[in-house]
Order: sequence, then C-alpha cells, then structure tokens
Amino acid sequence: MTGANTESSESEGERQGTVARRRWRILAEALQRSNNRDASPDSVSTRKFQSFGLLLFEELGQEFYSVRCINSDFKVIVRLLRRDFSPSQLTGFNNTGNVCIWPSEEILTYYCLSNLKIFSGKSVLELGGGMTSLAGMLVAASGVVSKMVLTDGNALSVSNVKVSLQKNSLPVETCARVLRWGVAEEVSPHQGKFDVAMCADCLFFDDGRDSLLLTLLAVLRPGGTALVVAPARSGTFHCFASMCRPHFRVAIVEKYDHVVDQLAQKSARDPHYNHNLHFPLLMVLKKIGTN
Ligand SMILES: C[S@@+](CC[C@H](N)C(=O)[O-])C[C@H]1O[C@@H](n2cnc3c(N)ncnc32)[C@H](O)[C@@H]1O
Repeated sequence: MTGANTESSESEGERQGTVARRRWRILAEALQRSNNRDASPDSVSTRKFQSFGLLLFEELGQEFYSVRCINSDFKVIVRLLRRDFSPSQLTGFNNTGNVCIWPSEEILTYYCLSNLKIFSGKSVLELGGGMTSLAGMLVAASGVVSKMVLTDGNALSVSNVKVSLQKNSLPVETCARVLRWGVAEEVSPHQGKFDVAMCADCLFFDDGRDSLLLTLLAVLRPGGTALVVAPARSGTFHCFASMCRPHFRVAIVEKYDHVVDQLAQKSARDPHYNHNLHFPLLMVLKKIGTN
C-alpha cells in the first residue's frame, strides 16, 4: 500500500469513527429524550405512543416553540395548537394534523435532514403537513432547496403554518397553501412543478389514497421523487405501494437508519407501542417518464 493510500484509508477510518461517534451521540440523546416523553409539548395529545424522541423543543410562550431535530442544528419556530377535538371532529375532513406532530412527520424530518442532498437545488412540496409541516420547514431552513411549498387540505393547519412562517425568515421562497388532494382547481396550478414531493402519515383514510396518488402524479415532473412515510397500519402502506407501481418505480425501505432502528427496538418495550401502528416505513417513488 502506498503512503498516500495508507493516509487516505486512515482518514477514511477516522471519518467512519467520527460518523459512528456522532450516530451514537444522536442515539444516546434520543434515548434520553424518549425516556422523558411526557415533557414534550405533544403530551396534550390523545396518542398513547407519542414520539421517538428525535425532536427537541424549546418553549417560547403563547404556543410557540423553537424546534430542531437531533441530527441537525437548523431550527425553526412553530406554533403548536393546543386544542381539544371531539372524536367526531377528528374524523371526516380532517383535523388529524391539528392534534400533534405525528411520529411519521418526526421521522420524515429526521430522514430529510440526514439526506439533504436529495433536496439540493430542487423545488419541493410537502403534502398533508398538518399544523407544522415540520419536515418542509426544516428542509427550507437548511437553505438547500430552490423553493418549498407547504400544504394541507385543512384550513386551520394552513393558517397555523402561515403564522409559524411569519416567525421565521427562511433563506428560500416558502409558502403555505390549502391543497386538497384530487381537487382539480387546487392541484392544477402546481402541475409538473415539483422535483420532490413528500408526505407523512397521509395513507390512513381509505378514501384519501386515490386522490393522494393522483396529486403526486400531477405535481411531480417526470423523473421526480416522492418520499412517503407512514406506518404499515393494517396494509394501508402496502396497498398504496401497489397502487403506485404502474406509475412509479417503488422502493420500500424499512431499515433506513441505524438510530431509528435502535429507538424502535427500545420503543417495542413500551406497552403502548405497536410496530404496525407506530413504526414509520419509508416509500421512495420515482415518477416514470422523462422530461
Ligand atoms: C395524520 S395527519 C398528518 C399530519 C402531519 N403530516 C404529521 O404527520 O404530523 C394527515 C394530514 O393529511 C391531511 N389530509 C387528509 N386528507 C387530505 C386531503 N384529501 N387533501 C389534503 N390534505 C389531506 C390532513 O388535513 C392532515 O393534516
């Protein structure tokens, strides 16, 4: 082996050691955090399993929080709605995004921040982002995208994201919009405009998957990518994957991150944790076709 090769393999070894140390630190922080779940702002929610402990909140008052994800230094200010919803308000169209930041959004945020190169120079759309659109907000805060549009079909979610956006000066063009999937007059202005679309925990409602698929197809340019994060939840995730196969190259990733795996193993000891309901799977969709 030449000196140069030895040096480069040593620095590669050092780099791997640094990466490994950083991952263990992230995991240790997240484990501490998940031991302390009730201290998180979403302890008001009715969810039994609340989070993987990857998000760090600093309370700023009047429902505002500075939030960062444990794998990144980017921060945004978001308002978390603290409202009680009756069971009937939670069904139909659709207050589920105003209840809390769901674990899928937490995982989408973490995944995006670990893989920012996916977004470099791209126009990006978050669908069904709920009351924070946290993944989109933090990706926008990284400054790597050319444009970020945050959407939900629920007007209260969107007005809340607009309030949050006013508290941040993000380094890229960012806006919040009502965009109900499959509603032509709301979807068509975005036709073919996006390189990347993403959504978290949006596969739950049986009557929503068709329109979500149509919307992804409409908004993505040919060759564009969708990141869909959701629990398996009694076949809903795999059902959506099957629906996508005629239109997208579909990859399903269960093991996308060592830290998340460790947290899921730990969560499995929580009596409230149900892997089928709570573990977010990742689906990466590539729209078939060329520009
Ligand atoms: C379970 S919440 C997830 C919210 C957020 N992504 C999270 O994980 O915290 C599902 C979101 O999808 C939105 N949604 C459901 N059906 C929709 C539709 N047809 N058009 C647009 N948004 C919809 C809801 O308003 C809600 O915010």
